[in-house]
Amino acid sequence: QQQAAESLYILNSFAQKFFATQLFDTEEGQNIALSYLEERGFTNETLQKFQVGYNPQARDAFAKAAMQNQFSAEVLQRSGLVVNRNDELIDNYRGRIIFPVHNNSGKIIGFGARVIGKADKAPKYINTPENELYIKSKILYGLYFARLAIDKNDECLLVEGYTDVISLSQAGVENVVASGGTSLTTDQLRLIKKYTNNLTIVYDGDSAGVKAALRGLDMALEESLNVHLVLIPDNEDPDSYVRLVGAQGFKDFVAQNKKDFILFQLDIMLKDAGNDVNKKNEVVNHIAETISKINKAEDFSKQEEYIRQSATLLRIDEGGLTNLVNKFI
Ligand code: CTP
Ligand code: MN
Ligand code: MN
Ligand code: MN
Ligand code: MN
Repeated sequence: QQQAAESLYILNSFAQKFFATQLFDTEEGQNIALSYLEERGFTNETLQKFQVGYNPQARDAFAKAAMQNQFSAEVLQRSGLVVNRNDELIDNYRGRIIFPVHNNSGKIIGFGARVIGKADKAPKYINTPENELYIKSKILYGLYFARLAIDKNDECLLVEGYTDVISLSQAGVENVVASGGTSLTTDQLRLIKKYTNNLTIVYDGDSAGVKAALRGLDMALEESLNVHLVLIPDNEDPDSYVRLVGAQGFKDFVAQNKKDFILFQLDIMLKDAGNDVNKKNEVVNHIAETISKINKAEDFSKQEEYIRQSATLLRIDEGGLTNLVNKFI
Protein backbone atom coordinates (compact mmCIF):
# COMPACT_ATOMS: atom_id res chain seq x y z
CA GLN A 1 0.00 0.00 0.00
CA GLN A 2 2.69 2.41 1.13
CA GLN A 3 4.82 1.43 -1.84
CA ALA A 4 1.89 1.67 -4.24
CA ALA A 5 1.29 5.23 -3.07
CA GLU A 6 4.95 6.12 -3.30
CA SER A 7 5.24 4.93 -6.89
CA LEU A 8 2.21 7.06 -7.81
CA TYR A 9 3.78 10.15 -6.23
CA ILE A 10 6.94 9.60 -8.24
CA LEU A 11 5.01 9.09 -11.46
CA ASN A 12 2.80 12.15 -10.88
CA SER A 13 5.82 14.32 -10.25
CA PHE A 14 7.47 13.03 -13.42
CA ALA A 15 4.25 13.63 -15.34
CA GLN A 16 3.87 17.20 -14.07
CA LYS A 17 7.36 18.08 -15.28
CA PHE A 18 6.72 16.41 -18.62
CA PHE A 19 3.42 18.29 -19.12
CA ALA A 20 4.91 21.65 -18.09
CA THR A 21 7.75 21.20 -20.58
CA GLN A 22 5.21 20.37 -23.28
CA LEU A 23 3.23 23.51 -22.50
CA PHE A 24 6.05 26.02 -22.33
CA ASP A 25 8.84 24.57 -24.45
CA THR A 26 7.23 22.92 -27.47
CA GLU A 27 5.69 24.50 -30.53
CA GLU A 28 2.52 22.45 -30.22
CA GLY A 29 2.13 23.40 -26.57
CA GLN A 30 2.72 27.07 -27.20
CA ASN A 31 0.50 27.28 -30.27
CA ILE A 32 -2.43 25.24 -29.04
CA ALA A 33 -2.45 25.38 -25.25
CA LEU A 34 -0.37 28.31 -24.00
CA SER A 35 -1.99 30.70 -26.47
CA TYR A 36 -5.44 29.58 -25.26
CA LEU A 37 -4.49 30.07 -21.61
CA GLU A 38 -2.96 33.48 -22.37
CA GLU A 39 -6.09 34.48 -24.24
CA ARG A 40 -8.02 33.66 -21.08
CA GLY A 41 -5.76 36.01 -19.20
CA PHE A 42 -3.54 33.64 -17.26
CA THR A 43 0.03 34.87 -16.88
CA ASN A 44 3.03 32.57 -17.17
CA GLU A 45 3.82 33.24 -13.54
CA THR A 46 0.39 32.03 -12.46
CA LEU A 47 0.54 28.96 -14.70
CA GLN A 48 3.93 28.09 -13.25
CA LYS A 49 2.76 28.56 -9.68
CA PHE A 50 -0.10 26.13 -10.21
CA GLN A 51 2.18 23.87 -12.27
CA VAL A 52 -0.19 23.82 -15.22
CA GLY A 53 0.83 21.69 -18.21
CA TYR A 54 -0.22 20.23 -21.54
CA ASN A 55 -0.59 16.67 -22.78
CA PRO A 56 0.21 16.55 -26.51
CA GLN A 57 -2.26 15.26 -29.10
CA ALA A 58 -0.16 12.29 -30.19
CA ARG A 59 -1.54 8.89 -29.11
CA ASP A 60 1.16 8.08 -26.62
CA ALA A 61 3.59 10.99 -26.16
CA PHE A 62 3.41 10.74 -22.39
CA ALA A 63 3.09 6.95 -22.16
CA LYS A 64 6.23 6.55 -24.25
CA ALA A 65 8.25 9.01 -22.20
CA ALA A 66 7.12 7.35 -18.98
CA MET A 67 7.99 3.86 -20.18
CA GLN A 68 11.40 5.05 -21.32
CA ASN A 69 11.82 6.16 -17.73
CA GLN A 70 11.05 2.67 -16.39
CA PHE A 71 7.53 3.32 -15.07
CA SER A 72 5.51 0.12 -15.18
CA ALA A 73 2.35 -0.33 -17.24
CA GLU A 74 0.56 -1.10 -14.00
CA VAL A 75 1.35 2.20 -12.24
CA LEU A 76 0.74 4.15 -15.45
CA GLN A 77 -2.80 2.81 -15.64
CA ARG A 78 -3.47 3.18 -11.95
CA SER A 79 -2.58 6.87 -12.22
CA GLY A 80 -5.26 7.38 -14.86
CA LEU A 81 -2.74 9.15 -17.08
CA VAL A 82 -2.59 6.20 -19.46
CA VAL A 83 -5.25 3.75 -20.61
CA ASN A 84 -5.04 0.39 -22.27
CA ARG A 85 -6.77 0.38 -25.63
CA ASN A 86 -6.55 -2.90 -27.56
CA ASP A 87 -3.40 -3.86 -25.71
CA GLU A 88 -1.77 -0.56 -26.47
CA LEU A 89 -1.01 1.98 -23.78
CA ILE A 90 -2.17 5.42 -24.88
CA ASP A 91 -2.46 8.83 -23.21
CA ASN A 92 -5.77 9.44 -21.50
CA TYR A 93 -5.56 13.26 -21.60
CA ARG A 94 -4.47 13.74 -25.22
CA GLY A 95 -4.65 17.36 -26.34
CA ARG A 96 -5.76 18.60 -22.92
CA ILE A 97 -4.54 21.22 -20.48
CA ILE A 98 -3.41 19.62 -17.25
CA PHE A 99 -4.13 20.99 -13.77
CA PRO A 100 -2.19 19.10 -11.08
CA VAL A 101 -3.96 18.54 -7.76
CA HIS A 102 -1.73 18.82 -4.70
CA ASN A 103 -1.96 17.46 -1.21
CA ASN A 104 -1.21 19.58 1.84
CA SER A 105 2.52 19.08 1.54
CA GLY A 106 2.55 20.07 -2.10
CA LYS A 107 2.90 16.60 -3.56
CA ILE A 108 0.81 15.82 -6.62
CA ILE A 109 -2.00 13.36 -6.00
CA GLY A 110 -3.80 13.63 -9.32
CA PHE A 111 -4.81 15.79 -12.25
CA GLY A 112 -7.72 17.54 -13.88
CA ALA A 113 -7.50 17.64 -17.67
CA ARG A 114 -9.43 20.22 -19.68
CA VAL A 115 -10.21 20.20 -23.37
CA ILE A 116 -8.97 23.26 -25.19
CA GLY A 117 -11.72 25.64 -26.21
CA LYS A 118 -15.38 24.64 -26.24
CA ALA A 119 -16.25 21.16 -25.07
CA ASP A 120 -18.52 19.88 -27.83
CA LYS A 121 -18.43 16.12 -27.70
CA ALA A 122 -15.80 15.17 -25.16
CA PRO A 123 -16.31 15.92 -21.45
CA LYS A 124 -14.84 19.32 -20.57
CA TYR A 125 -12.79 17.88 -17.72
CA ILE A 126 -11.48 14.42 -17.01
CA ASN A 127 -10.19 13.80 -13.50
CA THR A 128 -7.94 11.19 -11.99
CA PRO A 129 -9.86 8.03 -11.03
CA GLU A 130 -9.93 7.10 -7.35
CA ASN A 131 -6.66 5.50 -6.34
CA GLU A 132 -4.40 5.35 -3.26
CA LEU A 133 -3.66 9.07 -3.52
CA TYR A 134 -6.70 10.55 -5.21
CA ILE A 135 -9.62 10.23 -2.81
CA LYS A 136 -12.20 12.64 -4.11
CA SER A 137 -14.11 13.09 -0.88
CA LYS A 138 -10.96 14.41 0.83
CA ILE A 139 -9.73 16.78 -1.86
CA LEU A 140 -10.11 20.54 -2.03
CA TYR A 141 -8.37 21.87 -5.10
CA GLY A 142 -5.98 24.71 -4.31
CA LEU A 143 -5.80 24.19 -0.54
CA TYR A 144 -2.03 23.77 -0.64
CA PHE A 145 -1.66 27.25 -2.17
CA ALA A 146 -4.46 28.84 -0.17
CA ARG A 147 -3.95 27.66 3.37
CA LEU A 148 -1.73 30.48 4.62
CA ALA A 149 -4.11 33.07 3.16
CA ILE A 150 -7.10 31.24 4.66
CA ASP A 151 -5.42 31.36 8.02
CA LYS A 152 -4.51 35.03 7.67
CA ASN A 153 -7.95 36.13 6.43
CA ASP A 154 -9.73 33.76 8.81
CA GLU A 155 -12.02 32.92 5.92
CA CYS A 156 -12.09 30.31 3.18
CA LEU A 157 -13.79 31.03 -0.13
CA LEU A 158 -15.18 27.97 -1.83
CA VAL A 159 -15.63 28.05 -5.60
CA GLU A 160 -16.59 25.39 -8.12
CA GLY A 161 -13.67 25.00 -10.44
CA TYR A 162 -9.98 24.90 -11.14
CA THR A 163 -9.97 28.10 -13.18
CA ASP A 164 -11.93 29.97 -10.51
CA VAL A 165 -9.20 29.24 -7.97
CA ILE A 166 -6.40 30.14 -10.36
CA SER A 167 -7.98 33.39 -11.61
CA LEU A 168 -8.82 34.64 -8.15
CA SER A 169 -5.35 33.83 -6.92
CA GLN A 170 -3.88 35.75 -9.84
CA ALA A 171 -6.08 38.69 -8.90
CA GLY A 172 -4.75 38.57 -5.35
CA VAL A 173 -7.66 36.75 -3.73
CA GLU A 174 -5.69 33.80 -2.45
CA ASN A 175 -7.87 32.25 0.24
CA VAL A 176 -9.76 30.13 -2.29
CA VAL A 177 -10.34 26.42 -2.79
CA ALA A 178 -12.56 24.47 -5.19
CA SER A 179 -14.89 21.56 -4.60
CA GLY A 180 -15.13 20.44 -8.21
CA GLY A 181 -18.81 21.39 -8.19
CA THR A 182 -19.96 18.43 -6.11
CA SER A 183 -21.54 18.52 -2.68
CA LEU A 184 -19.18 19.00 0.23
CA THR A 185 -18.14 16.10 2.40
CA THR A 186 -17.44 16.06 6.13
CA ASP A 187 -13.79 15.35 5.40
CA GLN A 188 -13.53 18.44 3.21
CA LEU A 189 -15.21 20.59 5.85
CA ARG A 190 -12.77 19.32 8.46
CA LEU A 191 -9.87 20.26 6.20
CA ILE A 192 -11.21 23.82 6.07
CA LYS A 193 -11.78 23.87 9.79
CA LYS A 194 -8.10 23.32 10.41
CA TYR A 195 -7.55 26.89 9.22
CA THR A 196 -10.78 28.78 9.80
CA ASN A 197 -14.37 28.54 11.00
CA ASN A 198 -15.61 30.88 8.29
CA LEU A 199 -16.65 29.37 4.99
CA THR A 200 -17.97 31.52 2.18
CA ILE A 201 -19.42 29.68 -0.77
CA VAL A 202 -18.98 31.63 -4.02
CA TYR A 203 -20.92 29.92 -6.80
CA ASP A 204 -22.69 30.95 -9.95
CA GLY A 205 -26.33 31.52 -9.12
CA ASP A 206 -27.74 29.28 -11.81
CA SER A 207 -25.48 26.39 -11.05
CA ALA A 208 -26.39 22.98 -9.79
CA GLY A 209 -23.55 23.70 -7.43
CA VAL A 210 -25.79 25.84 -5.23
CA LYS A 211 -28.12 22.91 -4.67
CA ALA A 212 -25.12 20.73 -4.01
CA ALA A 213 -23.86 23.26 -1.49
CA LEU A 214 -27.25 23.46 0.21
CA ARG A 215 -27.11 19.72 0.70
CA GLY A 216 -23.86 20.24 2.55
CA LEU A 217 -25.32 22.82 4.89
CA ASP A 218 -26.41 20.56 7.74
CA MET A 219 -22.99 18.92 7.72
CA ALA A 220 -21.28 22.29 7.84
CA LEU A 221 -23.38 23.26 10.85
CA GLU A 222 -22.52 20.04 12.61
CA GLU A 223 -18.87 20.89 12.06
CA SER A 224 -19.53 24.34 13.56
CA LEU A 225 -18.60 26.31 10.49
CA ASN A 226 -20.09 29.74 9.89
CA VAL A 227 -21.37 29.47 6.36
CA HIS A 228 -22.09 32.39 4.07
CA LEU A 229 -23.08 32.39 0.43
CA VAL A 230 -22.38 34.74 -2.46
CA LEU A 231 -24.05 34.19 -5.80
CA ILE A 232 -22.15 35.43 -8.83
CA PRO A 233 -24.52 37.14 -11.29
CA ASP A 234 -25.81 36.29 -14.75
CA ASN A 235 -23.93 33.50 -16.45
CA GLU A 236 -20.63 34.42 -14.87
CA ASP A 237 -18.46 32.36 -12.60
CA PRO A 238 -15.78 33.69 -10.21
CA ASP A 239 -13.14 33.37 -12.93
CA SER A 240 -15.06 35.32 -15.56
CA TYR A 241 -16.44 37.77 -13.02
CA VAL A 242 -13.10 38.78 -11.55
CA ARG A 243 -11.88 39.42 -15.09
CA LEU A 244 -14.93 41.58 -15.71
CA VAL A 245 -14.82 43.74 -12.59
CA GLY A 246 -11.23 43.42 -11.41
CA ALA A 247 -9.82 42.34 -8.07
CA GLN A 248 -11.25 45.20 -6.03
CA GLY A 249 -14.63 44.95 -7.76
CA PHE A 250 -14.74 41.27 -6.92
CA LYS A 251 -13.85 41.85 -3.26
CA ASP A 252 -16.48 44.58 -2.97
CA PHE A 253 -19.09 42.36 -4.58
CA VAL A 254 -18.39 39.54 -2.15
CA ALA A 255 -18.47 41.88 0.84
CA GLN A 256 -21.77 43.45 -0.24
CA ASN A 257 -23.55 40.28 -1.31
CA LYS A 258 -22.49 37.83 1.35
CA LYS A 259 -25.56 36.24 2.90
CA ASP A 260 -25.89 34.08 5.92
CA PHE A 261 -26.49 30.60 4.56
CA ILE A 262 -29.26 29.55 6.93
CA LEU A 263 -31.21 32.74 6.36
CA PHE A 264 -30.56 32.48 2.63
CA GLN A 265 -32.03 29.00 2.59
CA LEU A 266 -35.01 30.16 4.61
CA ASP A 267 -35.58 33.00 2.19
CA ILE A 268 -35.66 30.70 -0.85
CA MET A 269 -37.98 28.23 0.84
CA LEU A 270 -40.36 30.97 1.94
CA LYS A 271 -40.57 32.43 -1.56
CA ASP A 272 -41.17 28.94 -2.83
CA ALA A 273 -43.99 28.30 -0.35
CA GLY A 274 -45.85 31.51 -1.13
CA ASN A 275 -49.25 31.52 0.59
CA ASP A 276 -49.56 27.75 0.84
CA VAL A 277 -50.11 26.99 4.52
CA ASN A 278 -48.93 23.39 4.30
CA LYS A 279 -45.79 24.38 2.49
CA LYS A 280 -45.07 27.09 5.00
CA ASN A 281 -45.48 24.55 7.76
CA GLU A 282 -42.91 22.36 6.06
CA VAL A 283 -40.55 25.32 5.90
CA VAL A 284 -40.92 25.92 9.63
CA ASN A 285 -40.14 22.27 10.32
CA HIS A 286 -37.21 22.25 7.97
CA ILE A 287 -35.62 25.37 9.39
CA ALA A 288 -36.14 24.08 12.92
CA GLU A 289 -34.30 20.93 11.99
CA THR A 290 -31.50 22.93 10.37
CA ILE A 291 -31.13 25.14 13.42
CA SER A 292 -31.08 22.07 15.63
CA LYS A 293 -27.90 20.94 13.84
CA ILE A 294 -25.93 23.90 15.11
CA ASN A 295 -23.38 22.54 17.45
CA LYS A 296 -24.47 24.04 20.76
CA ALA A 297 -21.35 23.11 22.63
CA GLU A 298 -19.27 25.31 20.37
CA ASP A 299 -21.76 27.97 19.38
CA PHE A 300 -23.50 28.83 22.56
CA SER A 301 -25.56 31.85 21.51
CA LYS A 302 -25.73 31.13 17.81
CA GLN A 303 -28.75 28.87 17.97
CA GLU A 304 -30.75 31.45 19.89
CA GLU A 305 -29.79 34.13 17.41
CA TYR A 306 -30.99 32.02 14.47
CA ILE A 307 -34.22 31.20 16.24
CA ARG A 308 -34.81 34.91 16.80
CA GLN A 309 -34.08 35.93 13.20
CA SER A 310 -35.92 32.98 11.64
CA ALA A 311 -39.01 33.50 13.77
CA THR A 312 -39.14 37.09 12.55
CA LEU A 313 -38.80 36.04 8.90
CA LEU A 314 -41.42 33.32 9.37
CA ARG A 315 -43.65 35.62 11.41
CA ILE A 316 -44.09 32.99 14.07
CA ASP A 317 -43.62 32.96 17.81
CA GLU A 318 -40.03 32.62 19.03
CA GLY A 319 -40.92 30.32 21.90
CA GLY A 320 -42.82 28.01 19.59
CA LEU A 321 -39.86 27.76 17.25
CA THR A 322 -37.55 27.06 20.19
CA ASN A 323 -39.75 24.17 21.26
CA LEU A 324 -39.75 22.79 17.75
CA VAL A 325 -35.97 23.07 17.45
CA ASN A 326 -35.58 21.21 20.73
CA LYS A 327 -37.71 18.35 19.39
CA PHE A 328 -35.06 17.66 16.78
CA ILE A 329 -32.16 17.59 19.23
N1 CTP B 1 -16.02 19.39 -13.59
C1 CTP B 1 -15.61 18.09 -13.78
N2 CTP B 1 -15.97 17.42 -14.91
C2 CTP B 1 -16.72 18.03 -15.86
C3 CTP B 1 -17.18 19.34 -15.67
C4 CTP B 1 -16.80 20.01 -14.51
O1 CTP B 1 -14.90 17.55 -12.94
N3 CTP B 1 -17.05 17.36 -16.97
C5 CTP B 1 -15.60 20.10 -12.36
C6 CTP B 1 -14.24 20.73 -12.54
O2 CTP B 1 -13.56 20.69 -11.31
C7 CTP B 1 -14.60 22.15 -12.92
C8 CTP B 1 -15.82 22.39 -12.04
O3 CTP B 1 -16.49 21.14 -12.03
O4 CTP B 1 -13.54 23.04 -12.67
C9 CTP B 1 -16.74 23.48 -12.52
O5 CTP B 1 -17.20 23.19 -13.84
P1 CTP B 1 -17.44 24.33 -14.91
O6 CTP B 1 -18.02 25.52 -14.27
O7 CTP B 1 -18.17 23.72 -16.05
O8 CTP B 1 -15.96 24.61 -15.46
P2 CTP B 1 -14.98 25.81 -15.08
O9 CTP B 1 -14.27 25.46 -13.81
O10 CTP B 1 -15.69 27.10 -15.14
O11 CTP B 1 -13.88 25.69 -16.23
P3 CTP B 1 -13.64 26.72 -17.43
O12 CTP B 1 -13.62 28.10 -16.86
O13 CTP B 1 -12.33 26.31 -17.97
O14 CTP B 1 -14.74 26.50 -18.41
MN1 MN C 1 -21.04 26.04 -13.64
MN1 MN D 1 -17.53 27.55 -13.98
MN1 MN E 1 -15.23 29.05 -15.86
MN1 MN F 1 -23.14 36.22 9.59
